[in-house]
Amino acid sequence: MVWRLDSGLEDKVVIVTGACGGIGRAVARDFAEAGSQVLATDLDQGALDELVASLPGGGHRGLALDVVDDVAREQLVDVATQQMGGIYALAHTAALLIRRPSLNEVTEADWDSQIDTNLKATFFLSRLVANAMTERGEGRIILFTSQSWWTGGFGGSSVYAASKGGVVSLSRSLARNYGPAGITVNTVSPGQINTAMLLTDLDPAVYEKMRAETPLGYVGEPDEVSGVVVFLASSHARYVSGATINVSGGYLMY
Ligand SMILES: NC(=O)c1ccc[n+]([C@@H]2O[C@H](COP(=O)([O-])OP(=O)(O)OC[C@H]3O[C@@H](n4cnc5c(N)ncnc54)[C@H](O)[C@@H]3O)[C@@H](O)[C@H]2O)c1
Repeated sequence: MVWRLDSGLEDKVVIVTGACGGIGRAVARDFAEAGSQVLATDLDQGALDELVASLPGGGHRGLALDVVDDVAREQLVDVATQQMGGIYALAHTAALLIRRPSLNEVTEADWDSQIDTNLKATFFLSRLVANAMTERGEGRIILFTSQSWWTGGFGGSSVYAASKGGVVSLSRSLARNYGPAGITVNTVSPGQINTAMLLTDLDPAVYEKMRAETPLGYVGEPDEVSGVVVFLASSHARYVSGATINVSGGYLMY
């Protein structure tokens, strides 16, 4: 096969959640550059409208919703299937991190909101999307974990880390269940990437320690993650499923 990063992606409908976030924005742009039609979703419609207007190519849409809302998730899938022609890929970047320096500060509300957003919504959205993909006989689901799934997290991110550990085991289960339907399921695991999520409430000493322990010596940028996502959706990765792809500049090695 001739190497082309847009392989299999031209005119395909790709849902990108968290599309107004640091990494999600880069993912949406890269899919648009690969010729896909992006259905971008996040919490704020105005920000989505701006994003969609900035994307190259045509046929993109922006739909504001909370991924925790089951009715809204169904609307998202309906737009993709009934108005855009069917879902080829889901790149699910939306997530919530609430840092609490001490475990004693973690509230039940912190626990519920992070588990609901990062883990529970990931299961129900993936299942909905996979059922729609099953009718087409192909599909790519790309979920997001974090280095914290392995390390337990730094900088007060214990609950977030637990939710992201759940995403890894969930993605393996999804890969087993949906593989026979021609659907691959993989998880991208970023190290430190310069976005609002990383920088909000993070102790600068933790940031610097992780940077110093990263063999490449710098904190990554969103476009160093988005290319991996597009690769996983492309036909070059058609035999990759159930993988957790480590994109941490060598901070973790597995
Ligand atoms: N930045 C990092 O260093 C890093 C490291 C490891 C993993 N990650 C993971 O990468 C992914 C993207 O993170 P990011 O750094 O771009 O974060 P970000 O905070 O910049 O973007 C996350 C986006 O998700 C949206 N979102 C949050 N809750 C939502 C909800 N309930 N419904 C709809 N949208 C919602 C937010 O509005 C935001 O635009 C996340 O899954 C995150 O856990 C990031």
